[in-house]
Amino acid sequence: MPALVLLGAQWGDEGKGKATDLLGGSVDYVVRYQGGNNAGHTVVVGDQKYALHLLPSGILSPGCTPVIGNGVVVDPAVLLSELSGLADRGVDTSKLLISGNAHLITPYHTTLDKVSERFLGKRKIGTTGRGIGPAYADKINRVGIRVQDLFDESILRQKVEAALDYKNQVLAKLYNRRAIAVDQVVEELLGYADRLGGYVADTTLLLNNAIDQGQVVLFEGGQGTLLDVDHGTYPFVTSSNPTAGGACTGTGVGPTKISRVIGILKAYTTRVGAGPFPTELLDEDGEKLRTIGGERGVTTGRDRRCGWFDAVIARYATRVNGLTDFFLTKLDVLTGWERIPVCVAYEIDGKRVEELPYSQTDFHHAKPIYETLPGWSEDITQAKTFDELPKNAQTYVQALEEMSGAPISAIGVGPGRDETIQINSFL
Ligand code: GDP
Ligand code: IMO
Ligand code: MG
Repeated sequence: MPALVLLGAQWGDEGKGKATDLLGGSVDYVVRYQGGNNAGHTVVVGDQKYALHLLPSGILSPGCTPVIGNGVVVDPAVLLSELSGLADRGVDTSKLLISGNAHLITPYHTTLDKVSERFLGKRKIGTTGRGIGPAYADKINRVGIRVQDLFDESILRQKVEAALDYKNQVLAKLYNRRAIAVDQVVEELLGYADRLGGYVADTTLLLNNAIDQGQVVLFEGGQGTLLDVDHGTYPFVTSSNPTAGGACTGTGVGPTKISRVIGILKAYTTRVGAGPFPTELLDEDGEKLRTIGGERGVTTGRDRRCGWFDAVIARYATRVNGLTDFFLTKLDVLTGWERIPVCVAYEIDGKRVEELPYSQTDFHHAKPIYETLPGWSEDITQAKTFDELPKNAQTYVQALEEMSGAPISAIGVGPGRDETIQINSFL
């Protein structure tokens, strides 16, 4: 069982950080394969809480080597401050490895992210403002700067010049902003080279060798399936592929080496930023989910939009990721509701639809069709086995499993590592 992918099955914030950390103690490598510091992964270890953005959640497990793969976009200033923040708390960060092919987020990407969102006005995506979209756009446009460019000043300067030639025109003429000086950017980036140099490696070679030798590699997705640029609710998505295939392109490990794909699935639904959300609750139930679930963004501090569980989305996640398992999180948050509605299908223009519509227009028209399941009032945070859950909680989990198309192999009943019911082993 050498390589596993762990990814978000909804719109992000499903509890991937906790799930990754839980597995971190049993795997040799944890690898981020896409996204950047738009991610906010919370890990609770004992009485310590960590918020990770760019570093793989495996960094908190001493035996595990954390890797930033080629598919990630790296803001070097954020990376260094995250590293020093963890080092100050006594976490050993020395094992980190970074792909030389990963692209950099530079100050002009962050600036462009913010000004272009402002320019979109009410059509904005609601990005995290971390420069993610502009950095990936440069990668695809072949004017990106890669981690390896930090170590060749002449190449770095040529590439920054090429990128800014165009961008400064856009900044000045379209957005009415000051041009950004090439020297200033080059100097700032060169300032990171010494501190990052020791971490850079041929991560593709290393990970393939590790898998061939029977070591266990866990690929940790950022964001979630519905935020995928190809398979999500485009254009209200992020600019990378959090879906399972992204683990291959984002690390250079082939699909034949991946043995298991685990979808992290919240027992209800949340979303941050703009875009369609059929089960969104704008009433007091939504407010209650937000309050009890602590649904506030780890990266931007924005309130998360909240709604009931959506089985259409879960089925879609099973399909586009080839999920082998689900890890159902935050079941404890639903304690106390007398009845819990679950969206089983959509009504679109008078018709019942069981699968996620591929047309954006149809999805915007989708109205949830609910089935209501009986709730429970007993505290479940101490439950260690499925049998210890109240009958109605068991029924809720079984119903979700049946509707979602893959076995629920673990259940989160609290934020801590040990607040987990493991049904099937992941390894
Ligand atoms: P990620 O981005 O997918 O890693 O998720 P976030 O960290 O952004 O948001 C998930 C939140 O739920 C965090 O505050 C976690 O500590 C918390 N959490 C994770 N699993 C559980 C669970 O099973 N129960 C409860 N109550 N909280 C959980
Ligand atoms: P984790 O890994 C939830 C959302 C933003 C916005 C859209 C595009 O913690 O689950 P971007 O800055 O990526 O260009 O923003 O994607 N978004 C997330 N939502 N969790 C995340 O990460 C997210 N990362 C980006 O809110 O709607
Ligand atoms: Mg998050």
